[in-house]
Amino acid sequence: MARNKEHYSCQNCGASYRKWQGQCDACQEWNTIQQDATSEAVPKGLSSGKGRHLEFTTLDTETRDYKRSLSGVAELDRVLGGGFVPGSSVLIGGDPGIGKSTILLQAVGVMAKAGYKCTYISGEEATAQISMRAKRLGLQDSPVKLAAANSLRDIVTSLEKEEAPNLLIIDSIQTMYADNLDSAPGTVSQVRACSQELIRLAKKLNCALMLVGHVTKDGQIAGPRVLEHMVDTVLYFEGDRGHQFRILRAVKNRFGATDEIGVFEMTDKGLQEVTNPSSLFLGNQDKAVSGASVFAGMEGTRPLLVEIQGLVAPSQQATPRRAVVGWDSSRLAMILAVLDARCGLSLAGNEVYLNVAGGLRVNEPAADLAVAAALVSSISDVPVPENSIIFGEIGLSGEIRSVGQTDARLKEAAKLGFTTAIIPVGSKVNEKSIRVIEIEHLSEIVRLFTANNDAS
Ligand code: TYD
Ligand code: MG
Repeated sequence: MARNKEHYSCQNCGASYRKWQGQCDACQEWNTIQQDATSEAVPKGLSSGKGRHLEFTTLDTETRDYKRSLSGVAELDRVLGGGFVPGSSVLIGGDPGIGKSTILLQAVGVMAKAGYKCTYISGEEATAQISMRAKRLGLQDSPVKLAAANSLRDIVTSLEKEEAPNLLIIDSIQTMYADNLDSAPGTVSQVRACSQELIRLAKKLNCALMLVGHVTKDGQIAGPRVLEHMVDTVLYFEGDRGHQFRILRAVKNRFGATDEIGVFEMTDKGLQEVTNPSSLFLGNQDKAVSGASVFAGMEGTRPLLVEIQGLVAPSQQATPRRAVVGWDSSRLAMILAVLDARCGLSLAGNEVYLNVAGGLRVNEPAADLAVAAALVSSISDVPVPENSIIFGEIGLSGEIRSVGQTDARLKEAAKLGFTTAIIPVGSKVNEKSIRVIEIEHLSEIVRLFTANNDAS
């Protein structure tokens, strides 16, 4: 019987199938399964004895000492773990218009001026458009090699002939196509084939490769997640379009720490680095208002102070609204439940709004206590004690659990002029420059506000 050579894969998650179906079993998306152009994924039987015998070594094998090249954009270098590694591949994802092309153009512009050989290949914009942008950024004199191309074959041929660059930018991987495949650019098989080939080329030329990837509306790199497995480093460029702040975040890094962030501000002269992000995310701290607290968070190795705003308002509706910006809504539900069950503070008849100022997204459970303080402060209409920062994780019984990197958080707060820290009991504190109030249970926060209220 003839074997069915047809092969299908999900354009969303990359799962492969022997026949077409409407819904992907792996990611549950509908209408994402398409036929692949080649039958490469249908495995043929492997016969033994024909392969090359592998040479096994030990873990302490001599490594090639790779020399990183610094991009000159300090925030980018920090997120990369100290600059580009030759031969490595980096994927940078982000919403359209967030500034991926801008930051990469700035990086190659500065690097080329510093003597590195940089090649920028765009599949989206014409060279005239890019040089116009370079002019705006003041980088038009930089010796960057620029080309507009979509064909992988042309790119590989040109790069193999010319002197190898130190950094190669491909903007974007979804616009590239390999002409030995029938499918359209941007499909899983094209993206996979093009990335594989480019990564191979980068290893061969020992140049750092940076791929731009588009992001779907649910925040994943468009089409294949498989791309994330193929590259060494995955960066996300995020930010709220309404705010000028942009955050570059590493979600995978084979050559450095993840969770490291770089903060930028979009200006008319391109992206400017923000070296002191805490001051950016703090509101005006001159006057204490109720319903706002300052959370001392950590982003990777860097402490970051952000203002958390809460608003509790009476509601006429049967199911009052709960709206959260920049934080996890299920975590908010948990804090409301703990306030109700363990502290006797019921918010059932109220609308609750929570906002992390500046367009930042906070993921740490350490923000629990700051959120609770903002909410309780809003209910009691008593401001959080002046010049104080808060952090701590809330357990389901209302106990406050200690979190990591206490000293780094306290040091940053002291540096920015805060004098008091409300922190979990049992935290290891060596930092002497700030007064510490230790909290054991969430009800102490509630009492702190109601007591102040009685006094005033
Ligand atoms: P772009 O870098 O092309 O985004 P992406 O490649 O991620 O799609 O676009 C960045 C946006 O920033 C664009 O909408 C215009 C704006 N911008 C500025 O505000 N100032 C600048 O100097 C530049 C170059 C762009
Ligand atoms: Mg772009």
